[in-house]
Amino acid sequence: MDDIFLGGTANGERQSLLLDRANRHGLIAGATGTGKTVTLQTIAEQFSAAGVPVFLSDVKGDLSGISMPGSSTFKHAASLEARAKELGVTDYAYRDNPAVFWDLYGRNGHPIRTTISEMGPLLLGRLMGLNETQEGVLNIAFRYADDNALLLIDLEDLQAVLMACAANAKELAGRYGNVSRASVGTIQRQLLAFESQGADMFFGEPAFEIGDFLKCDDTAQDGIKRGIINVLAADKLMQSPKLYATFLLWLLSELFDALPELGDPEKPILVFFFDEAHLLFDDAPAALFDKVEQVVRLIRSKGVGVYFITQNPIDIPEKIAGQLGNRVQHALRAFTPRDQRAIRAAAETFRINPELDVETAITELKVGEALVSTLQADGSPSVVQRTLIVPPRSRLGPITPKERAIIQSMSPVAGKYDDKIDRQSAAEVLAAKTADAVAVAQEVEEKGEEAVRAQPRKSATLWEKAGKAALGAAAASAGTMVARSMTGRKSSGNIAASTASAVAGTIGTALGGAALGRFARGLLGGLLR
Ligand SMILES: Nc1ncnc2c1ncn2[C@@H]1O[C@H](COP(=O)(O)OP(=O)(O)OP(=O)(O)O)[C@@H](O)[C@H]1O
Ligand SMILES: [Mg+2]
Repeated sequence: MDDIFLGGTANGERQSLLLDRANRHGLIAGATGTGKTVTLQTIAEQFSAAGVPVFLSDVKGDLSGISMPGSSTFKHAASLEARAKELGVTDYAYRDNPAVFWDLYGRNGHPIRTTISEMGPLLLGRLMGLNETQEGVLNIAFRYADDNALLLIDLEDLQAVLMACAANAKELAGRYGNVSRASVGTIQRQLLAFESQGADMFFGEPAFEIGDFLKCDDTAQDGIKRGIINVLAADKLMQSPKLYATFLLWLLSELFDALPELGDPEKPILVFFFDEAHLLFDDAPAALFDKVEQVVRLIRSKGVGVYFITQNPIDIPEKIAGQLGNRVQHALRAFTPRDQRAIRAAAETFRINPELDVETAITELKVGEALVSTLQADGSPSVVQRTLIVPPRSRLGPITPKERAIIQSMSPVAGKYDDKIDRQSAAEVLAAKTADAVAVAQEVEEKGEEAVRAQPRKSATLWEKAGKAALGAAAASAGTMVARSMTGRKSSGNIAASTASAVAGTIGTALGGAALGRFARGLLGGLLR
């Protein structure tokens, strides 16, 4: 199989998506109820069958059915079977797909977690809607944590470091810049609001390993190991649109960071489907928007195809829309002037077909019918064709909780992420420091300063503690760090050797935590810095 069957034209012309052009990104657009989700499902399951792992966000909960076979007793079966027949698909049969469910809130899938340090100040700042001054303070907090070997893992750590920054504002001013109490206060309040949306679930350990999105099933079908379809339960997540958008961006950046340069592979390493894609761009600050554009542009040569799904194609900014080579445009409505603008804009993006009046066709398309244009072998877009989309073989609509539980129990990552672990990080170190200070103050009061100074130290110093924390971190995530530093750092030369010595250096010196913090910062600190 070297292409994905999308469907056929009225006169039987086959429309397909070439696997070796599938990393040139794509768009699935159309008004509500026109067939976007079904199109996504049919494309995703064919990628899986071709051995390409898939990630998709399930915004309405109606994509979980991709894990189960369809059935001829299902209410839409008649129209699906009729469509298959109309397209001359003689081997149409219901079939399941290997799927793994994920859920940031851990209810309907494995939790996905990252650390504050890996998320980095830029995305966090955006997530909290900070202004420039507040962003500056957040940056200082990150640098302060780095320089003092304080690990930023969860929200609690960030709160603790912010408090330490506020407490030491005077000393920090000369070194890093101004830390106003007002800004710290705002950030802390935002963090609390953010926490109340459930974001505290998202920050912590075990941190997600991106390799788990790049897996194939063990059982081969027609000699090809099927790509696992990773379904992100995004129904609850959608109620916090900023968290949704930031999370997806973080994921893309992690991928970018972890994957080697490939050029145009025979087939993608992973295909990523973004539903409700407009949320990525809604009130995104210019700096962040530029980075989205950059990540989308660069990630294709790492073999990742990104497909945006949205109701209105003009919701995707032009700079990004211009990078979407494979297009499936379902019907649009023409009620408002904005609708009409969208139709005109959509029509303009297609390579002209003299036999097709695209603007008229867009408003006339049936459900499950679309205007299709994909990239050809020579890299040019195919002439736009009115296409009946082939139906999926898996189930349309949601699965039952029981089915989900069974699938989860067989998941290849069962037990890996399900329980959160908490280890010594900034919050604990800073709390210990305060406790130490209190204890010393008490002793001074009791015995007098001279006596206390004269006696040998009992407890580990802050630096020793921080050093230990850094060591723990190095041991726990050396693998991730090695991978990250190879790609996140843009250093040339013998990367493996410099990574090894850098890690050794981190472990070897008590003050290595600073280096570690910088190491652990992924692309968001690298590319997005
Ligand atoms: N290719 C197809 N063949 C047959 N029927 C289809 C096809 N595509 C869609 N349909 C029918 O149309 C219905 C709606 O499609 P779908 O859920 O994909 O719409 P949508 O564009 O995702 O809508 P929304 O914007 O509300 O999410 C499906 O439940 C199915 O019955
Ligand atoms: Mg839909």
